[in-house]
Amino acid sequence: MKIKNICCIGAGYVGGPTMAVIAKQCPNIKVTVVDINQARIDAWNSDDFNKLPIFEPGLAEIVKEARGKNLFFSTNIDKTIDEADMIFISVNTPTKTYGKGKGMAADLKYIELCARQIAKASKQNKIVVEKSTLPVRTASAIKSILDNTGNGVQFQILSNPEFLAEGTAVQDLLDPDRILIGGGSSEKDQKAVDALADIYANWVPKDKILTTNVWSSELSKLTANAFLAQRVSSINAMSEICEKTGADVREVSKAIGMDSRIGSKFLNASVGFGGSCFQKDILNLVYIAKSYGLNEVADYWEQVILMNEHQKNRFSDNMVSTLYNTVSGKKITFLGWAFKKDTNDTRESAAIKVADNLLNEQAKISVYDPKVSEERIYTDLDYLNTRSSDENKSLLTINKDPYDACKDSHAITILTEWDEFKSYDWKSIYKNMQKPAFVFDGRGLLNKKELEEIGFVYYNIGTGN
Ligand code: UDX
Ligand code: ADP
Repeated sequence: MKIKNICCIGAGYVGGPTMAVIAKQCPNIKVTVVDINQARIDAWNSDDFNKLPIFEPGLAEIVKEARGKNLFFSTNIDKTIDEADMIFISVNTPTKTYGKGKGMAADLKYIELCARQIAKASKQNKIVVEKSTLPVRTASAIKSILDNTGNGVQFQILSNPEFLAEGTAVQDLLDPDRILIGGGSSEKDQKAVDALADIYANWVPKDKILTTNVWSSELSKLTANAFLAQRVSSINAMSEICEKTGADVREVSKAIGMDSRIGSKFLNASVGFGGSCFQKDILNLVYIAKSYGLNEVADYWEQVILMNEHQKNRFSDNMVSTLYNTVSGKKITFLGWAFKKDTNDTRESAAIKVADNLLNEQAKISVYDPKVSEERIYTDLDYLNTRSSDENKSLLTINKDPYDACKDSHAITILTEWDEFKSYDWKSIYKNMQKPAFVFDGRGLLNKKELEEIGFVYYNIGTGN
């Protein structure tokens, strides 16, 4: 079976880049990304390629190349579903904010709405691919909705989790470590698996395309994210011991990373991991474990989240105690708001929690981030509901120029590892700050020796001072 027409439901951080790359690599397949959010679709269709809703290095170039040829963005969901042979579900699966499983389980209402819409709009057989990260066994719920509410057409359900990381999405999609496809064992299911594998085979070596049963595929995605987050919490736990003992966490990371069994990646101590996946997926895993009565398993994974919360809180606590136990009325500059560099995404960013803690201490915060919008920053803070929107606006200001953001500040804190921060004129920043001038580097980004020579009091996460 050759796929000629793909529909992707959800034009977000996963759907958008993934489909742009499929369209680029498969010029003979028509790819249409649909979303209920008109503003998001308009932004994807914008003539100004700087205004795409998602910033990812290399993405604008790919959209420019493929859009209007075989890549389309639309809000005409039913028609696009009906015309497609293969439908990717790439909608959001946030943590539930109500009812049973509140604060832990994945909220599957968007997935269910999507399944119902596919069932209603489909007049021919379709392959439905789960791209969103989902609890294990969601495919059976989707199949049940499709089979019971559809127009009598046949659906094959596949799981094809996406492992791209934000900031490197295009590179990850063009050269993935592996492609995982989970499918059933019937002949029809296997044909569907082959059809999806053939799409990827246009640019991914065959030995990197792994096929498993559906449940293994769903669970592998949660497992990968849990292991990655666990590594960050593990090194962050060591960063606190380093600070107390005079060891340097970067030296420890290097030393352990050279053990080929451990490996060198994902060992950067930081102010805490963020992003839309790690916390959500671990909470989901914890919920699944609890629902099977596996309490020890649940507690084990929950600790990864607790450690991450602790890291964010101890970072802001350390700022307050170093700044003579009071930040009230003091200007503190945040360099970075995104959860990591090279993305405009701020979901679960450590900066939000650190800001909230410091605002509780009546600090005056000034933020500069090269890619995050002013509106996004205030929305992130208001969402916490700690204080009124007016109070947030009066206590926190946003600067378009980093040097203005740093002027007259008592302390600068690095919350995102944007490369440009390294090349700033730190001498001139120092000159225009209150003295003593502090830098709290939550990413280990800057050069301690250089900053100390200029006169800064420099605090680096994971280094005894
Ligand atoms: C993650 C997974 O890497 C990806 O495979 C999955 O598809 C989605 O979730 P993402 O959240 O985009 O991707 O970014 P990632 O690079 O994993 O970073 C997550 C967070 O961990 C960031 O806040 C990052 O700054 C932090 N991190 C990462 C560290 O603090 N230290 C590290 O060594 C690595
Ligand atoms: P992710 O990071 O997983 O891509 P996002 O929140 O960035 O998540 O994107 C999910 C997208 O899915 C949003 O743009 C949202 O509007 C869209 N969406 C959610 N439900 C539906 C639906 N039933 N039909 C179409 N689009 C949907």
